[in-house]
Amino acid sequence: MTDPDKLIKYAKDFSGLTPELEAYLKEIAPEITPHLQTVTNSFYTHLNTIPSAAKYLDGRIDKLKNTHLNWLTSLFTRNIDAEFAQNMYKVGETHFKISLPVEFMVGAMALLNDEFTRLVFKVFDDDPAKCAKILRAIDAVSALSLMLMLMKMERCYRESTIAEELERFLTISGMSRTLFTNLANAYH
Ligand code: HEM
Repeated sequence: MTDPDKLIKYAKDFSGLTPELEAYLKEIAPEITPHLQTVTNSFYTHLNTIPSAAKYLDGRIDKLKNTHLNWLTSLFTRNIDAEFAQNMYKVGETHFKISLPVEFMVGAMALLNDEFTRLVFKVFDDDPAKCAKILRAIDAVSALSLMLMLMKMERCYRESTIAEELERFLTISGMSRTLFTNLANAYH
C-alpha cells in the first residue's frame, strides 16, 4: 500500500485512534509534554541495558535522544494524517538501513508504553478515569506508529531478500542482468 491517505486510514482502523482520542492527545499535550524528556531518558537507559540493542546506540545516544524526543512530542502536537504516515514510513526505512531486527521495534514500543503507564499514574494519580483515557489515546497512537514503521520495514526486508536472490540467480546461471530484464519484461 503506497497511497498515504489509504495508509493512515488503514492504520487508524486497526489502532483505534478515533478523532476523539486524537483530539484528546492535543488537549493533554500541555500536561504531558513537560515530562517527555524523562520518558526519553528512561527509554534509552533501559534499551542500553540490553546488549543486542546497546550496540546500535553506541556513540550516538545524545543525538538519538533529541530525535526521539521530537518524535514523541509530535504525537501530542501534530495532526496524525497522511503526512504523518509518510514520516513513519521514512522512520521505518531508516531502521531497515541500519539492519535493525523488526522485533526490536515491538520491544521498544512495549518499553515506551511501560514508561508512559508509570508517568501517567504518577502525574494524575488522583484521577483514575483520566489516567485510563490518556493511556487509551497513547496506546492507540503508539500502535499506529508501530504498525506503519513495521509495514515499511517488512517491505524493505522482503525487497532486499528478492534482490539478493536475483543476484545469486544471475551469478549461478551466468545470465546477464539485461537479458533477465528483457525476459521479465516479455512475460509482463
Ligand atoms: C519505538 C520504537 C522506535 C522509534 C519510534 C524510533 C524513532 C526513531 C526516529 C524518529 C529516528 C530518526 C529517523 C530519521 O532521521 O529518519 C530514529 C533513528 C534511529 N534509531 Fe530509532 N526508534 C525506535 C526504536 C529504535 C531501537 C530499538 C533502536 C536500537 C536499539 C533504534 C536505533 C536508532 C538509530 C541508530 C537511529 C539513527 C539511524 C541513522 O541516523 O542512521 N531505534 N529512530
